[in-house]
Amino acid sequence: MTHCVPASGSRSSGSGIDPRLARVNTAPPTRIHPTAIVEEGVRLGKGTSVWDNVHIRRDAQIGDDCIIGGKSTIAYGVAIGNRVKINSYVYICHGVTIEDGVMISAAVVFTNDRFPRAATSDLSQLRSSDPDEHTLPTIVRCGATIGARATIGPGLEIGAFAMIGMGSVVTRSVEPFHLVVGNPARAVGAVCRCGEPIYRFGQADVPVQLAPPAAAPSPMITCSTCHAKYHIMDQAVHEVSSG
Ligand SMILES: CC(C)(COP(=O)(O)OP(=O)(O)OC[C@H]1O[C@@H](n2cnc3c(N)ncnc32)[C@H](O)[C@@H]1OP(=O)(O)O)[C@@H](O)C(=O)NCCC(=O)NCCS
Ligand SMILES: [Zn+2]
Repeated sequence: MTHCVPASGSRSSGSGIDPRLARVNTAPPTRIHPTAIVEEGVRLGKGTSVWDNVHIRRDAQIGDDCIIGGKSTIAYGVAIGNRVKINSYVYICHGVTIEDGVMISAAVVFTNDRFPRAATSDLSQLRSSDPDEHTLPTIVRCGATIGARATIGPGLEIGAFAMIGMGSVVTRSVEPFHLVVGNPARAVGAVCRCGEPIYRFGQADVPVQLAPPAAAPSPMITCSTCHAKYHIMDQAVHEVSSG
């Protein structure tokens, strides 16, 4: 019921074409700030804006109606879906896939190598930055939000519509609709697809609209903001209707 659409970045300005030309060919236009570096093979969807001093490395794919905030870096081969908002100073490394409607707040950092080294053991040669067996892919599912300055560990899945608190260090995958905070990040509750908190986990799991101590908590929760309905059992959140 989460209507996840795999990141495609497929509606693009065309492989092998300088994406700056998309300004001429698409409506609404793709906008690229003159200080941005967009490497060869990058595909940008229509209506996407790339702000100042952004660096998008070769073969990255970015869908329609996205915003890439100033000073952000997107590594080669990264796939980003449609209507993704990326704030300033974000670092997205190789191996990351971001589905539709994801929000990545300022200064978020992704990682893809658990035990990285710069050089060979004898320090005589720089190691290649190309992907190898140590490169761990990460996927951010549709509608998720990553709070400002969060760090995302390698090889993780951030579930659909999950929310990661500002400053979190995420070392484990995050379940759909979960709200996680802290270092290491732990699930503290659930949020609606609209972003409203709907449930707090803990000793007495209760919907946020019920003040504890309450009657036995109901596994059926209705968002007070958008009226989406959820079934929550053992911290597993299932969307019953989207409001
Ligand atoms: C995680 C978040 C959604 C929680 O919001 P909330 O439910 O209103 O939380 P509250 O402010 O009621 O705080 C509840 C508890 O969680 C703690 N807390 C809140 N955010 C936290 C965070 N990011 N990391 C660690 N603890 C956090 C509070 O200190 C409080 O603890 P306490 O009960 O011991 O005092 C919010 O704090 C957050 O980080 N939002 C993202 C902001 C952001 O990055 N925006 C970017 C675009 S501008
Ligand atoms: Zn809602």
